[in-house]
Amino acid sequence: MKIDEIFSVKNKVAVVTGGSRGIGEMIASAYLANGARVYITSRKADICDAKAIELSERYDAQCISLPSDLSSVEGIDSFVRDVESLEESIDILVNNAGAAWAEPIDKFTERGWDKVMDLNVKSVFFSTQKFLPLLRKSASQDDPARVINIGSIDGIGTPVFETYPYSASKASVHHMTRVLAARLVKENILVNAIAPGPFPSDMLGAAVEHNYEGIISRNPVHRMGRAEDVGGLAIYLSSKAGSYTVGETITCDGGTISSSGHDLSE
Ligand SMILES: NC(=O)c1ccc[n+]([C@@H]2O[C@H](COP(=O)([O-])OP(=O)(O)OC[C@H]3O[C@@H](n4cnc5c(N)ncnc54)[C@H](OP(=O)(O)O)[C@@H]3O)[C@@H](O)[C@H]2O)c1
Repeated sequence: MKIDEIFSVKNKVAVVTGGSRGIGEMIASAYLANGARVYITSRKADICDAKAIELSERYDAQCISLPSDLSSVEGIDSFVRDVESLEESIDILVNNAGAAWAEPIDKFTERGWDKVMDLNVKSVFFSTQKFLPLLRKSASQDDPARVINIGSIDGIGTPVFETYPYSASKASVHHMTRVLAARLVKENILVNAIAPGPFPSDMLGAAVEHNYEGIISRNPVHRMGRAEDVGGLAIYLSSKAGSYTVGETITCDGGTISSSGHDLSE
């Protein structure tokens, strides 16, 4: 029952998509700080490479950059081949890379729809599918492999912005999590999702010109999400402590969803 044992990710091998910044970097950092080896990927190779060097040095750990574009099955195949050339098995897959697109309802474009759906939904399924051989090799009843999908509270509640496919994509991620969990639990691969609320990142920052004051004032705990909030949850879901939690979507939002409908003014 010691924390070092039940929450350990030591010597685990993790893949974090979109690990070059934002929430993916926060989750990768939590693993690296606690003795895991972490593969990160993103499209911009120079930024991904520099981030892997920075995180390796900061945590005295192994963070490896394998840049790729996961919006197509071709890109996913190439990324999985790169990981396969370096590892015989992986313990944890975090499907975090995601995109958002906002346009007024009358002008919403097919391009915006497809960009969001391809990365947020299609790539979550095919990344999981293509990594199954490596996940299967580490999976056992005593120590199951893990898949963590990053959804969003916008897939549970109604979003503030006109991001129609984004909400649909994240609701899809949450339900796909249950369906994949039901199938893969038979092979000792546990699938869960995290539904973050507001975390400072390029994605959210772009929507509010990097001024988070309005978001903070509306949040029940009056702050943005921190690296340890989402990193701690990822560690729980990746460790012994989380090995009886299957098919869940866990919010990490300061109480936004559970407080919705409640008047927060004092
Ligand atoms: N921040 C929030 O408040 C919030 C709230 C709820 C849910 N989320 C979810 O959390 C996840 C991370 O979001 P974030 O806010 O951290 O976003 P972000 O700062 O924009 O980071 C996105 C990451 O994904 C990578 N990426 C984007 N397109 C890619 C592609 N086609 N192939 C491979 N990598 C790609 C980006 O690198 P490149 O641009 O170099 O490819 C980057 O590393 C997303 O799924 C998002 O929907 C975020």
